[in-house]
Amino acid sequence: MKFLLIILIGFSILASSFTERTDNGSIPSSFAAVSDTLKKDKETGLIVDKDLFMVKAQCTSCHSSKLIIANHFTRDGWKQKIRWMQANHNLWDLGETEKQVLDYLEKYYAPTQTVARREALKDIKWYKLEVK
Ligand code: HEC
Repeated sequence: MKFLLIILIGFSILASSFTERTDNGSIPSSFAAVSDTLKKDKETGLIVDKDLFMVKAQCTSCHSSKLIIANHFTRDGWKQKIRWMQANHNLWDLGETEKQVLDYLEKYYAPTQTVARREALKDIKWYKLEVK
């Protein structure tokens, strides 16, 4: 009887530990980077958004979207990249659509912030190193 109880408790602990996990892996969603929870476009791998079509139209005809995904800049940084491509690589004037493209890039491809950071240590107990 005691043995059965231990097995039952064991199973309930096991079951509760599984419910804390996400469907697709062992990392709780609260630790996953924000971009990991967003939907990606099948064709380009870029994050799905209302402005994606414009970014696809303006930014994926010369090179792979991987060049965008691999980079993280501020809005100003993205603007400078665009100016650089315009000056050196025949990128056209984006006109009215530049704002839309920059809104998108700033929103999803900004310099990365790590969400999964532990809290600062509190109540640190310092001790003297004994030198022998
Ligand atoms: C007219 C062609 C063209 C278009 C359109 C274009 N690019 Fe580029 N882009 C280039 C070329 C050429 C390079 C340099 C590729 C290399 O170094 O291999 C480049 C490089 C890049 C890089 C890498 C820069 C670096 O420092 O390594 C990024 C990021 C980038 N492009 C983003 C964009 C974005 C965002 C758009 C849409 C606004 C865009 N590109 C549209 C031609 C283009």
